[in-house]
Amino acid sequence: MIAEQFLYFTAKALRSTSVAHTAQMKAALKDKAVNDAQRTREAERVMSVLERYHLTIDGQRILDFGCADGALTIGYLNSGAAHVVGMDVDEGAVRRARELHRDERLTFLKSDVELLPVPDSSIDAVVSYDTFEHVSDPPAILKEMWRILKPGGWMLIGTWGWRHPFAPHLWAVMPVPWAHLLVSERTLIKACRRVYHARWYSPTRDDFDSTGRRLPDKYTEDSISLDYLNHYLIADFERLFRAGGFSCETHPVPFGSWYANWTRPLLRVQSLREFLSGYVWFILRKPSADSSVDDPQLS
Ligand SMILES: C[S@@+](CC[C@H](N)C(=O)[O-])C[C@H]1O[C@@H](n2cnc3c(N)ncnc32)[C@H](O)[C@@H]1O
Repeated sequence: MIAEQFLYFTAKALRSTSVAHTAQMKAALKDKAVNDAQRTREAERVMSVLERYHLTIDGQRILDFGCADGALTIGYLNSGAAHVVGMDVDEGAVRRARELHRDERLTFLKSDVELLPVPDSSIDAVVSYDTFEHVSDPPAILKEMWRILKPGGWMLIGTWGWRHPFAPHLWAVMPVPWAHLLVSERTLIKACRRVYHARWYSPTRDDFDSTGRRLPDKYTEDSISLDYLNHYLIADFERLFRAGGFSCETHPVPFGSWYANWTRPLLRVQSLREFLSGYVWFILRKPSADSSVDDPQLS
């Protein structure tokens, strides 16, 4: 009860600050059009990361893993890829992607949690944005990535570790950093529920149905669980990627905007980087056919 009170009142105190949301994120939470425009721009963010690390998609066959409705997939095509396969486990999202983006150089496929529906060595490179923290069976997916990538192929994965300040994706109701590490899941959800019903809470676009009616809160023990996140730490991802046979570079980005730049040197310390990075870019490389490599260790 004390922990719940603490979270509730801290959430109230932080709601109008920029701790959890920049002004841009607040606007996107309110308005679907702003959110859609922002997601389209995310492809540019990914492209700038590719450029920084000298990775090119020009003329390549790319897999956008976890493509949702394809907002970024089309961006990769427009940035020079020869063909982009968008893939997602969510059938409805894949259907929307097919309706929204029609181009013979685009293919949208529904994947399985353990199997990817493309042939061996058929993909030059994989880009995966905001998805790996959701993957329920990361070893199975890594095995599949190894199978479908051509020798010498690479992957760019943008994701977060479980000690990220807002890892449980509850930021709309719970702007308290590291709340999930301070209290039990049950207490966290109870505090979220109280916030959702508070008079001072400002609902987001996800809190209304298509007719504009406010949805009942989803912060009940049986209807929301943090299970849809795999709780991997940054170090767990690195272990998984290396066990999968890939070489792996890790590039953490400080949490927060310009004011957090001073934390950059601290991100070299393994334990601190888990708490202080706002985002992590992993670059994985599958060795080329002529290099001698050990077989992947994933069971
Ligand atoms: C936060 S969304 C990101 C979507 C997209 N990359 C973007 O940035 O707009 C995460 C997506 O990952 C998908 N996803 C989760 N687990 C997956 C899996 N095992 N295989 C494929 N897609 C998965 C979800 O269905 C969801 O569409």
